[in-house]
Amino acid sequence: MHEDAGRAAKKNGREARMVKSPEELEGMRRAGEFNGRLMDYVREQVKPGVSTAHLDRLAYDYTLDHGHKPACLGYHGFPKSVCTSINDVVCHGIPSTKEVLKDGDIVNVDLTTIVEGFHADSSETFMIGEVSDKARHLVEVTAIALLRGIDAVGPNVPLIEVSKAIEPYVKSQGCSVVRQYTGHGVGRKFHEFFTVYHHVDPDADDIVLRPGMTLTIEPMINLGSWKVVTDRVDGWTVRTRDGSLSAQFEHTIAVTETGAEILTLTPSQRRTGGILNVDGIALNIAGNTISRREN
Ligand code: MF3
Ligand code: CO
Ligand code: CO
Repeated sequence: MHEDAGRAAKKNGREARMVKSPEELEGMRRAGEFNGRLMDYVREQVKPGVSTAHLDRLAYDYTLDHGHKPACLGYHGFPKSVCTSINDVVCHGIPSTKEVLKDGDIVNVDLTTIVEGFHADSSETFMIGEVSDKARHLVEVTAIALLRGIDAVGPNVPLIEVSKAIEPYVKSQGCSVVRQYTGHGVGRKFHEFFTVYHHVDPDADDIVLRPGMTLTIEPMINLGSWKVVTDRVDGWTVRTRDGSLSAQFEHTIAVTETGAEILTLTPSQRRTGGILNVDGIALNIAGNTISRREN
C-alpha cells in the first residue's frame, strides 16, 4: 500500500512537472509557429523529381537562416536534419540524394526545430502526383486519426482517451496502428515524459492531461500489419515488416482549459481550413484548434 502511494506521488510529481509556465508556453508557441512556417516552405518543393536530400537541405538552410536549430541533426547520432519516410518506411527515413520522389509515392516529412530552447515537432504525409486508391485511403485515415486524437484532448482527460479515439477508428478502416513508436511529451527536451500511445495499451501509464502540458500526437498507420523492422545497415530506417504502405501525421499541441491548442498548425492549414494536404477533409478552424466538419 505504501509503495503504491509512493508511486502515485512520484507520478503526480512528474505529471505536475509537465505543466508549462505561461512563459514556457509562449516559448512553445514561438517554436510551433516557426515549425509550421518551415513545413509550408518545404511543402512547395515536395514533388516528383526532387530528392529527399534536397528537402533536408531546404529545411536545414531555412532553419539556420532564421537563427534556429534542427533538432534531429545529431540526435542520438541521426545524420540529417529531417526524417523522410517513403511508402513502406514507417519513420526515421534518412534523406538521400539517391532517393528521388516519383509519381505515386507517399512521403512523410518530419520536422523538428529548437527555437530559443523549445522544441516543436510535426510531420505530414504528402501524396506525389497520382497515388493509388489504397494509398489515398491510408493517408486520409491517418490524417483523421490525428484529428481524432487531438479532438480527444482536454483538461482532466485521461491520456488513454487519445488511444481510444484513434485505434478503433483505424481498425474499422482496415488499417493498423504501429505500436513500437509513439507520441511524447515535448518542451525543452525533444522527447519528454510521457509516452503517447496511439493504440490502446493495457500497460500505458494512467496519465491525466492538465492545462499547460505540451505533447505530440503522431499516429503511424499501416495498410497491413502493425509490425515493423529497423534497417540493420543504417540502424534508423523503420519499415513495415510485411512491406505494406505506412503513413503518419504529427502535431505538437498544448492542453488548454477547454481542449487543445495546435502549436504547429501551418499558415496554409490555418488559411484554408484544410489539413495536411488531404483533399476532401473539411475542418473548422477556430483560433489554433481544428475539428472535422461533417458535410
Ligand atoms: N521527429 C521524430 C518524432 O516525431 C523523431 C525523430 S528522431 C531522429 O519524435 F533522430 F530520427 F531524428
Ligand atoms: Co514526435
Ligand atoms: Co516528429
